Amino acid sequence: MLVFGASGAIGRFLLPRLRAAGVPVLAVSRRPRPAHAGVSWLEGALPDAVPALPVAPAGIVSLGPLGPFAQWLDTVRPRGARVVALSSMSAQSKQCSPVAAERAIAAALQAGEARLARACRAAQASHVVLRPTLIYGAGLDRSLTPIVRRARRLRVFPLPAGRGLRQPVHADDIALAVLAALARPQLDGQVLAIGGGEQLSAVQMFARVRASLPFATVPLPLPAVLLRAGARLLPRLRGPLGRLDEDLVADNAELERLLDVHPRPFAPTAAAWTPPTPP
Ligand SMILES: NC(=O)c1ccc[n+]([C@@H]2O[C@H](COP(=O)([O-])OP(=O)(O)OC[C@H]3O[C@@H](n4cnc5c(N)ncnc54)[C@H](OP(=O)(O)O)[C@@H]3O)[C@@H](O)[C@H]2O)c1
Repeated sequence: MLVFGASGAIGRFLLPRLRAAGVPVLAVSRRPRPAHAGVSWLEGALPDAVPALPVAPAGIVSLGPLGPFAQWLDTVRPRGARVVALSSMSAQSKQCSPVAAERAIAAALQAGEARLARACRAAQASHVVLRPTLIYGAGLDRSLTPIVRRARRLRVFPLPAGRGLRQPVHADDIALAVLAALARPQLDGQVLAIGGGEQLSAVQMFARVRASLPFATVPLPLPAVLLRAGARLLPRLRGPLGRLDEDLVADNAELERLLDVHPRPFAPTAAAWTPPTPP
């Protein structure tokens, strides 16, 4: 199995699961990494600095940036491979953002999905795309873990007001979905949303993160009026603050029906915010 982005949050859970299933992994990273049980590493960078592969892979998983992966795949066209790649629900949720940079992210993701589909068709490869919501669980995310780190330092936990619904998905549930998609080559061309097993308000989500911490923090409620002023004064925060009242959720119905994967509710423990120690 060839895996891109294996050093990230989902790889943390996927690699041990592949090892347990006896599947040898060739993982690509932009920096040298030591081999460990069942995993050898190849140094390379998407889209155009991936070395020639020693053997044609039967399965290819992309857990990193979609656009560069689709571009590489389009160049290499691995005949008959089974491909599973991550996109993001941002392809949909940021489509109509008032912030141009966010609309560009949505457009780039959609273009990546389309290029992936074209490349797979040309290579007679079958593929499934997973579109996660906010990912947590490995201490590597850039959304909730940085808030936890700051709270550890300052002993204060911000609780922004927000009526929007959230559906954080555990990285291990995405790893399970990747395995399920690999095991069902008859599924081809599906783009499946994957959210957590529970929708909750943004306020509840932050409160649960705070409750999971093994140290005490002072709650700091951030009222809507303050957030609106922040969004006006700091244009780069307009997108994230504006979205606090929007629902960022996924309909898991197709995921559950086609892959029989049922993501867990949002009940994080302190381990979810702890980065892995290198093997
Ligand atoms: N984070 C979220 O909440 C979220 C939400 C929805 C969807 N997603 C999607 O989930 C995937 C993972 O996201 P992420 O935030 O965990 O991490 P990310 O920053 O998108 O990807 C990190 C991983 O990708 C690899 N990588 C990055 N650039 C690469 C390149 N040019 N060539 C080869 N490998 C490269 C890194 O490996 P090395 O450093 O070892 O090279 C690392 O393992 C992405 O497709 C993202 O769009 C993320």
